[in-house]
Amino acid sequence: MITTVTLNPSIDKTIYISKLIPNDTNRVTNVEMDAGGKGINCARMLRRLGVETTVVAMLGGKSGDFVASVLKNEGICLEAITTKTNTRSCVCVEESTGAPPTTFNERGGPIEHKELVDLLELAKNVSRESSYVVFGGSVPPGINDDIYRVLIDIASAGGAKSILDADGLALVEGLKAKPYMIKPNREEVERLLGVEFVSKSDVARAALTLGERGIELVVISLGKQGAMACQDGIIYYAQPPEVKVVSTIGSGDSMIAGVLCALENGAGVDEALKLGCAAGAATAMSNGADIGAKADVYELLSQIRVSKIKPSPITH
Ligand SMILES: Nc1ncnc2c1ncn2[C@@H]1O[C@H](COP(=O)(O)OP(=O)(O)OP(=O)(O)O)[C@@H](O)[C@H]1O
Ligand SMILES: [Mg+2]
Repeated sequence: MITTVTLNPSIDKTIYISKLIPNDTNRVTNVEMDAGGKGINCARMLRRLGVETTVVAMLGGKSGDFVASVLKNEGICLEAITTKTNTRSCVCVEESTGAPPTTFNERGGPIEHKELVDLLELAKNVSRESSYVVFGGSVPPGINDDIYRVLIDIASAGGAKSILDADGLALVEGLKAKPYMIKPNREEVERLLGVEFVSKSDVARAALTLGERGIELVVISLGKQGAMACQDGIIYYAQPPEVKVVSTIGSGDSMIAGVLCALENGAGVDEALKLGCAAGAATAMSNGADIGAKADVYELLSQIRVSKIKPSPITH
């Protein structure tokens, strides 16, 4: 079983308009409501790919009930910590011009001490029954930034491998517990290492650096430019398929699901990266906060090429 943990889930509301006019009335052409949060997205893709999945999430109020109902409809097992505070909303405004979306994300929380204690206890129990535990997303107020370090230590003690998908301080702190896998995107790695990628070799060197820090499997996602993975000092690059992009929200989370689905079925890193790319691309083709369809994932799979690469030496 694969478990995903979401500390700060959300209701994702996507509002479609032709073009955003600030300080004026905007006519809405369509609205979509969905459950959101990195671990939740990842679990939905895992489920679509046929992997037994449990979601651990902190949920509260009517918005929390909505998230729970979405998971129930998709047949995903939910272990919820009920919070006094309502689950937050994230609003995304999508223009038909193709411009990047405008998002309004509530912070979520505050989480009470007792709720956090319950979460740690639950994490202990689910880790014993899971092959992998995915920790993803922002940390709500009331919880310290070192929470992923604590949770990864708990998962390791229970015998599960951890995947961390976080940003900023939560990522820096979480890395100290040496998760089995991380899947930052380009900007997250640039921020983490204080570098700027100019070439593919720069990305490869960053993947090697993170591998040398004790991360067994480093996957760096590069949006429409595909992804790179590093295991045992070997670097793999996946060339993505060409797709008609609708909304890339959840592409990274879907990629983690694809990688884990393949690993769970005994595949090597090259095949895992391929399925990860296919799942990410399928989600880029789907509306708003929705994730990709299984049929699209397997159709895209045959279009993805994975090759081993070596970074060229730095010449400057
Ligand atoms: N436009 C695209 N065309 C083809 N594949 C894509 C596209 N966008 C994303 N993907 C696939 O999905 C993977 C993950 O996407 P991306 O790098 O955008 O993740 P992310 O920034 O972590 O996303 P999020 O955090 O919103 O889920 C990419 O490595 C790629 O394989
Ligand atoms: Mg991401």
